[in-house]
Amino acid sequence: MDIPYCIPNLHHYFPPTQAIHGYRETERLQWGAASENILRRVRTVAFPEGSPLLGPVHVLDLDKKGYIKPHIDSVKFCGSTIAGLSLLSDSIMRLVPENNTTDRVDLLLSRRSLYILRDDARFKFTHEILKDEESFFSGQKVPRHRRISVICRNLPM
Ligand code: OGA
Ligand code: MN
Repeated sequence: MDIPYCIPNLHHYFPPTQAIHGYRETERLQWGAASENILRRVRTVAFPEGSPLLGPVHVLDLDKKGYIKPHIDSVKFCGSTIAGLSLLSDSIMRLVPENNTTDRVDLLLSRRSLYILRDDARFKFTHEILKDEESFFSGQKVPRHRRISVICRNLPM
């Protein structure tokens, strides 16, 4: 497989360094059969056919107190689509238009759900994962526990 980088620190490539707090992470190219099946399903729904994918899948383990500040993933290293599975905990992802930071859309990412950020949502909005104490949806508290996300990305055109 032709992967155009090696990774000393993943977050030099995806969001800017310092965007993510209280985490550990890894990336993985080879998965067991059961996981590979799930990833195949994710890729089938998330990416246009034939779209070249970033080979390694990114796994991000956010501590209960961990959070992700607003950022846009690197346009140099990642393409039009970011697809993420949320595991272990519900969380709130906030999208804010880059050119109007008084607007926002909050998404409830239920544990075991898949989100897909594509095109404008990926390029024109920052995304972030709120801290436990800021985690509300429709006025309801959404407790944030430890959360693991499994993120697939494609390559820039
Ligand atoms: C990232 C990111 C979101 C998530 O690593 O760039 O935005 O679902 N992750 O963990
Ligand atoms: Mn991101």
